[in-house]
Amino acid sequence: MTQRGRFITLEGGEGVGKSTNVAFVAQWLRAQGLEVITTREPGGTPRAESIRELLLATTFDEPLDSDAELLLMFAARAQHLAEKIEPALARGAWVVCDRFTDATFAYQGGGRGIDPARIETLERFVQKGLAPDLTLLLDMPPEAAKSRLEGRRQASNTEPDRFEREQAAFFSAVRGAYQARAAADPQRFALIDAQKPLDEVQAALTQALEERVATWP
Ligand code: TMP
Repeated sequence: MTQRGRFITLEGGEGVGKSTNVAFVAQWLRAQGLEVITTREPGGTPRAESIRELLLATTFDEPLDSDAELLLMFAARAQHLAEKIEPALARGAWVVCDRFTDATFAYQGGGRGIDPARIETLERFVQKGLAPDLTLLLDMPPEAAKSRLEGRRQASNTEPDRFEREQAAFFSAVRGAYQARAAADPQRFALIDAQKPLDEVQAALTQALEERVATWP
C-alpha cells in the first residue's frame, strides 16, 4: 500500500513572504526525492478559486457578512480538500499549502471576532479529522509587512483586495491569534521570524523541516 503523503502549511499575515517560501519548501522536499504539489487557500481548484474571487472582491455595493465570509472560506476548503488535497495525499504526494484553517482562526476568529468554538465546529465538519502535519508560521509585525506589500503592489500596479483594505488593528489581531495558536501547539507549529533577510528565513525553514521531517515514520 502506498504511504499517505504529508500535509504542510505556511501561514502568516499579508506581505510576509509566503509565496516565495512555499516554492522554497516544495523545492527542499523535492530534493529529498518526494512528490510534492503546491496549492493555496482560499482557492486551489477552479471552483474554489471562483469562491476566492467572491471573497476578495471589492466591487460589490454591500458589505460581506462575517458569517457568510466564514462559510465561504469553508466552502472553498471543502472543495479544495475533495478535489485536490485528499487525492494527492492518498496517492502519496506531499502537499504544501499557502494558508489553511489557521488563517480562518486568525482572520475570521482574531480579525473579525468570531467565536473560535464556531470555527472548530466547521473545522470538524469539513475536515473530518484532517489537520496539517507541520505549520510554518512566518511572523512579522504588520507595519513592516505593510510597507513590503505596498512596494510590491506599486511595482505590479494592483489594487488592494478586500482584506488588504483592513485597518492596522485588524492585522495586529490576526497576528496575535496566529501567535496564540502557535504557542498552544508547538508540536505542529514552527515559528519563523520573517523580518530577517530571506537567506536567514530560509535557513530557519530548512532547520524546521530537517527537525520535523526526519522524525516522521
Ligand atoms: P492570500 O493573501 O494568502 O492570497 O489570501 C487571501 C486573503 O484571504 C488573505 O487576506 C487572508 C484571507 N483568508 C482568510 O481570511 N481566512 C482564511 O481561512 C484564508 C485561507 C484566507
